[in-house]
Amino acid sequence: MEQLPTWSSQQGLQNQATGDWAAFLRTYPTYASTTPLDELRAQEYSRLDRLGQVYLDYTGGGLYADCQLRNHQELLSSHVFGNPHSHNPTSLAMTQWVERARAYVLEFFNADPDEYEAIFTLNASGALKLVGEAYPFVPKGHYALLFDNHNSVNGIREFARAKGAQVTYIPVDAPDLRINPAHLERALALGTPGIPKLFAYPAQSNYSGVQHPLELVEIAQAQGWDVLVDCAAFAPTNRMDLQQWKPDYVPLSFYKMFGYPTGAGVLLARKSALTRLHRPWYAGGTITIASVQGNGYYLAEGAAAFEDGTVNYLNLPAVEIGLRHLVNAGIEMIHTRVLCLTGWLLERLTAMRHSNGRPLVRVHGPNTLEARGGTLTLTFFDPEGYIFDEHRVEELANLENISVRTGCFCNPGAGEIAHGLTPEIMAEFFKDNHGLSFEELRQLMQVRYGKSINAVRISVGLASNFADVQRFLDFAQGFIDKSTASIGSSEPTNRRCSVDAGA
Ligand SMILES: Cc1ncc(COP(=O)(O)O)c(C=O)c1O
Repeated sequence: MEQLPTWSSQQGLQNQATGDWAAFLRTYPTYASTTPLDELRAQEYSRLDRLGQVYLDYTGGGLYADCQLRNHQELLSSHVFGNPHSHNPTSLAMTQWVERARAYVLEFFNADPDEYEAIFTLNASGALKLVGEAYPFVPKGHYALLFDNHNSVNGIREFARAKGAQVTYIPVDAPDLRINPAHLERALALGTPGIPKLFAYPAQSNYSGVQHPLELVEIAQAQGWDVLVDCAAFAPTNRMDLQQWKPDYVPLSFYKMFGYPTGAGVLLARKSALTRLHRPWYAGGTITIASVQGNGYYLAEGAAAFEDGTVNYLNLPAVEIGLRHLVNAGIEMIHTRVLCLTGWLLERLTAMRHSNGRPLVRVHGPNTLEARGGTLTLTFFDPEGYIFDEHRVEELANLENISVRTGCFCNPGAGEIAHGLTPEIMAEFFKDNHGLSFEELRQLMQVRYGKSINAVRISVGLASNFADVQRFLDFAQGFIDKSTASIGSSEPTNRRCSVDAGA
């Protein structure tokens, strides 16, 4: 088996010296305004360069700055904190920090505290489940959602169906994977006045990086929909301003924004929309009183009614620390840098050709910077048009300490459209209800339909720099004029979509 050339960590610098850096700056002059982020990386994320890691999986999870850890540890070691459900001094001290964090989350998203509640959850999925299980779906009610959604948004359809509501998927169109306007219009016209209906979409796709218009919030609300905007993939590199846009429900995970802590997310909910939710149960912390003999309970008001049991209290101050870190870094500056790097990646990757003129990659989604973020999903082709196995591409990237993502990214709808998979084909795999792993699905798809499910996702974020993307471009360049046979195949594994491609 032929060896791929290795890409040394110096390669990016050589390229800079030989003109790519200059060409990049000429094309993306605003990158120069983001140099404070290079200083930040040198100070706070030095482990990346020290360990020679090229991190390109920000849509999977953000990276934390060293100072976030230091500040959090300092806070913990200089206080005595107890469970905030009590009323003793250590508990009251903790309550103060938890409520501070809550207030700061609202402030960060410019949400009016008279209008929005911040409900702490385990993650974005936890926030989505809170809405799904409590939304007043009824027969004749509706749940409309884009094909392009994370599985935790797709999963709400099971609550909707169980209560007899109609579920309507709105397609996105290949190749750009943007909303089909005619289907959108038809879906938003559904419903009966007075019967609850929920419309859900992501502000940014975790599959393609497409940014679906926030203007849809008002358009859908004007037609009687409650609107859920999943901001998990959007919030790390874009400003979500809840004075400008007023979705009813906004779920997100904090580790995606600033890496640490994990296990903390939020549901930002309009107070008026919160009162429409009917919780299916109560738990410790969510009630004013409950009685065994009286066989009843009264739910607490506001956020407390939705925070089951003890919140992740020691970690919540780290949420404020993380958000302040983003503010100090400058979310607009991060946004600018991410767009410059994404533009360069798109431009260079789409220009890569084998000697016979055939393209090396296909981008799943838009290949311009218009209305998109820093997530790119790619398929790699050899000179004859055969697809390089994603797992082998990942293995080779791993050898270079480049972290990419493969799999379905927990967004099957966008992937199905990008791969041209029809409802008939997909229904085949669910008719026997016998359970399949993602790997089995890939293999059966190939054997039965000759279709190769193959996607490599890269994503940039706060600490990304030109050398990172250049390292990836150099890595990609190594596939030029290679055949699929010559790069070999990956070790067979039985990967599960939910395990190896969950976020
Ligand atoms: C757009 C989007 N929504 C929701 C989620 C779920 O986030 P979590 O796994 O943190 O619950 C993700 C995770 O990648 C995501 O990208």
